[in-house]
Amino acid sequence: MARGLIAGNWKMNGLIQSLDEITQVAQTVGLATSPVDILICPPATLISAAASAAGDSQLSIGAQTCHAAEKGAHTGDLSSQMIKEAGATYVIVGHSERRADHGETDSMVAAQADAAIAAGLKPIICIGESREQREAGETETIILGQLRASTPQSASGANFAVAYEPIWAIGTGLVPEMSDIQTAHAALRACLKEMKGADAGGETPLLYGGSMKPGNAADILALDDVNGGLIGGASLKANDFLAIYSAAGKAL
Ligand code: PGA
Repeated sequence: MARGLIAGNWKMNGLIQSLDEITQVAQTVGLATSPVDILICPPATLISAAASAAGDSQLSIGAQTCHAAEKGAHTGDLSSQMIKEAGATYVIVGHSERRADHGETDSMVAAQADAAIAAGLKPIICIGESREQREAGETETIILGQLRASTPQSASGANFAVAYEPIWAIGTGLVPEMSDIQTAHAALRACLKEMKGADAGGETPLLYGGSMKPGNAADILALDDVNGGLIGGASLKANDFLAIYSAAGKAL
């Protein structure tokens, strides 16, 4: 059975003063272990300070991408070792905004995830269909294809997570029908088991992302094979993010 994970993706938001939100989350979740893990991925400039603010609390800190190479001539990029040294324990890879803005392909995402695992980080591999693909009835073909091609050999069981994020639901306030989320997650779970074996394939946290908010989190997190969420807008305010975490504690 996969552990729960509530992950915040701050995207390109946050300056030093935003660390107050991280401090509030860290103080609220405290030191006690919980069946649901909690993570915030601030911009890379804040990883180190965020890790200090999180201290010994249960709150983990992650990055939003990493380069596949260990080092070298890649101006502006950061390696998985660099973000690990800064205090990250997770890294989001293949977010649809990276795929769209930076031309990241499935094979690049798989290489990034592989590098992250080699550095001792847990990658969160993002996949999801566009509105046009959904309307053409291609959702399952697209997301299973992305899952297979974006997941490296080294990813198995709980050393990574997968986030299903329909592109048209990100930042729009639109959320699929609960039955559609359920269907997608069941197909992804079956595919993970086929790829990695029944045991390991059952242990990978399968997150839903796309306009998850305090108001809809309980319903989404109650679905079978939904083990958590990847939350953008609603992760920026500690109170909203903590409300989702608390819903996860009841549902998962
Ligand atoms: P959103 O973003 O919660 O603001 O829709 C989710 C994501 O892009 O990870």
